[in-house]
Amino acid sequence: MPATARSVAPPRVVSIADFRPLARKRLPRAVFDYLDGGAEGEKTLRENCRAFDDVTFRPRCAVAFAGCGLKTTVLGHELSFPAMLAPVGYLRLMHPEGEVAASRAAGKAGTGYILSTLSGHPLEKVRGASQGPVFYQLYLMGGRAAAEAIIERAKAVNCTGLVVTIDTPVAGMRERDFRNGVKELMGSNPLDMIPFLPDVLSRPGWLLGFLRDGRVPKLANVVVPGEGPMGMTDVAAALAASAVTWDDFRWIRELWTGPIIVKGVLTGEDARRAVDEGAAAVSVSNHGGRQLDDVRPSIRALPEVVKAVNGQAEVWMDGGVRRGSDIVKALCLGARIVLCGRAYAYALSAAGEAGVTRALNILREDVERTVRLLGCASVGALDRSYVEVPASWAA
Ligand SMILES: Cc1cc2nc3c(=O)[nH]c(=O)nc-3n(C[C@H](O)[C@H](O)[C@H](O)COP(=O)(O)O)c2cc1C
Repeated sequence: MPATARSVAPPRVVSIADFRPLARKRLPRAVFDYLDGGAEGEKTLRENCRAFDDVTFRPRCAVAFAGCGLKTTVLGHELSFPAMLAPVGYLRLMHPEGEVAASRAAGKAGTGYILSTLSGHPLEKVRGASQGPVFYQLYLMGGRAAAEAIIERAKAVNCTGLVVTIDTPVAGMRERDFRNGVKELMGSNPLDMIPFLPDVLSRPGWLLGFLRDGRVPKLANVVVPGEGPMGMTDVAAALAASAVTWDDFRWIRELWTGPIIVKGVLTGEDARRAVDEGAAAVSVSNHGGRQLDDVRPSIRALPEVVKAVNGQAEVWMDGGVRRGSDIVKALCLGARIVLCGRAYAYALSAAGEAGVTRALNILREDVERTVRLLGCASVGALDRSYVEVPASWAA
């Protein structure tokens, strides 16, 4: 077994939670907190995980099945189990192989990967790393011309779908990033960096990889015509200048004839609107508690969205998923698949591709064990009858 795979084998890593301290040990605080943190008081960040505790199981005992069906399909593509990797920005800062490693690990595990607009590796390389479904997550950063250019590239490499994130009209207030000097460290003025350098110097292993990789990468997939790839430092301003509105779906649909997934839906109203705009799937998400704090945890919003969509599109969800049992709960409440964010990003930060592979294995084994313990034959047979939710959720 290679050393990186050994570093995340049991007994060191038994559950997803075990990756977090490993990531913290390898990354400078500025990078770890960017990954780990949320917006403002981080209430939604915490609630996303905690709310899964409100959902309890109702198993059927003394039943036996020869096997346990874990396969599912997403927009017609088969997945080996019902979880995919969510778009997570700046993965190349967490590990030099970043998005390429995540895509490769997902493909080998028989599942899908969603590449963030905020990525350091070019879409073509990320797509080429996986035989499985690869989606592109679109922000309109750099303006419409930059978006048109990446949509053409997504078509050329046969991307599976376009995920349009609608919950980011401005960047959320991530207080940890300000305290850690993320902006200063990503900038080009060495004087501004000085107060924050001890943090970076305290992680020589990470620093060596970062320097070998050519320091802060450009946003390889946000290419403003005539200007080249956008720098990673301009992101907050670029997001604020390029909010997506429902009107944008018209021109996006003209350029992209494949499936569109609307990510960041928390209410029945937005879910209906997304379906009316032609979404093939809506993804229930609060951006992992990184945007508007004090919104409902995703699992709490899921039943309302499922009801509003009424089978007219697939419903995906993400937020707070740290165990296979969380995935099973979301499926019981009507999600077709679940996206994992931090669960795999901690693992990537700890051990690169080997970490992501291990994280996916843990989640898959968790899902299988949970479904068997529930006395259910397959993930496709899960339904509302296998869980109990607080009475207030029904109202
Ligand atoms: C570090 C980080 C960066 C993220 N970047 C993006 C992004 O670029 N685009 C996007 O749509 N969502 C982004 N997200 C949100 C994730 O896609 C997903 O909604 C969230 O991570 C789910 O919550 P979880 O981390 O608790 O699983 C990011 C999340 C994290 C943690």
